[in-house]
Amino acid sequence: MDGAMNGSPMNGGPMNGIAGPPLLDVQDLSVCFTGREATVNAVSGATFNLRAGEVLCLLGESGSGKSVTLRALMRLLPKRAQVAGRVTVAGEDVMALDGGALRSFRGGTVSMVFQEPMTALDPVYTIGQHLTEMIRRHKGGTRAEVRARALEMLELVKVPAAARRLDAYPHELSGGLRQRAMIAIALSCGPRLLLADEPTTALDATVQIQVLILLRRLQQELGMGTIFVTHDLGVAAEIADRVAVMYAGRVVEEGPVADVLRAPAHPYTAGLMASTVHDQAPDEDIAAIPGSPPDLRHLPPGCSFAPRCAWAMPACRQGFPDPVYPAPGRMARCLRVADVLRAGPPHPSASHSGAPQPGPSHPGASQHGVHA
Ligand SMILES: Nc1ncnc2c1ncn2[C@@H]1O[C@H](COP(=O)(O)OP(=O)(O)OP(=O)(O)O)[C@@H](O)[C@H]1O
Ligand code: SF4
Ligand SMILES: [Mg+2]
Repeated sequence: MDGAMNGSPMNGGPMNGIAGPPLLDVQDLSVCFTGREATVNAVSGATFNLRAGEVLCLLGESGSGKSVTLRALMRLLPKRAQVAGRVTVAGEDVMALDGGALRSFRGGTVSMVFQEPMTALDPVYTIGQHLTEMIRRHKGGTRAEVRARALEMLELVKVPAAARRLDAYPHELSGGLRQRAMIAIALSCGPRLLLADEPTTALDATVQIQVLILLRRLQQELGMGTIFVTHDLGVAAEIADRVAVMYAGRVVEEGPVADVLRAPAHPYTAGLMASTVHDQAPDEDIAAIPGSPPDLRHLPPGCSFAPRCAWAMPACRQGFPDPVYPAPGRMARCLRVADVLRAGPPHPSASHSGAPQPGPSHPGASQHGVHA
């Protein structure tokens, strides 16, 4: 491996390539759920940061720990979750917040948009009541001022006939309008950080695009730092400044979206790219990453991607790889970053396991699908 790649992020500048304190700083975040029979290591030592006004996409297949990470940042995990590590937002230690400070942090400093708004909206309250409750709690004001702000928020997210929609119950709105209302509620107190957990996957394709464009525009206008969870590399390419790729609870690659998608440094990222539908011919196969993610109750020793990785070598199974910084603002946790970069981006039909011209291939690899 290229020795110059090792060391701290300072070798290549700060992780996001921009100097100055981040809006969000996550250091070594771990979350375990301890049950009677086993401990689930949902997130293991995730480290990333975000500057004001930036969009970071969290990518990774189902169960990789994306939602648990977001919930940990909001302190929304159940009591039995054991959380370790350090999270600061605008310099404030999130893990130390309690009582009123925590309530004002949620919604005031950080807001979340969930995948399915019905899980976050209370069916017995109108959209207007949801909005006014949030605004009254965080911003205060007279009844008329709060109602005017609620209306302004619905108009901001382009809900047609907004005044009438204030008195509608969640079930009376279409999926797309409900998601817009959810976004309005999340933005109503002017959060500095927006956490969007797959906010468009429950919507049909045309509505998805409208909501994505809306979110991107609002994020830019309001200058919010945003973490956007998605399975969709195309969405990441459209809206993200940077991506963090999660695998089995770990951030295995991070960097500017264009650089990572042009030349992935981790075999898992390369595998996700190869398993995504591009503009290949109709009869062309799409490469799937062989095997399935590890059981989070029994993570394998060493690199957790090793059982599926065509680049794996014996050293990969010794310990989880330290971060490597192949370029300013880029990080990957893999022993063969230099080889993977040298091999170039994957072609959808040319490879499995993210290896265009792999080293020792993984024998007996089956073809369970992983689709980004
Ligand atoms: N409350 C909980 N108790 C026990 N395990 C949990 C809990 N919440 C999540 N997990 C486990 O943590 C792991 C990560 O879950 P998470 O919801 O973060 O995945 P994800 O990356 O968001 O997946 P998806 O793309 O399907 O939403 C999973 O194995 C999940 O079963
Ligand atoms: S080459 Fe080794 S360290 Fe890198 S992803 Fe594959 S198994 Fe993990
Ligand atoms: Mg999730």
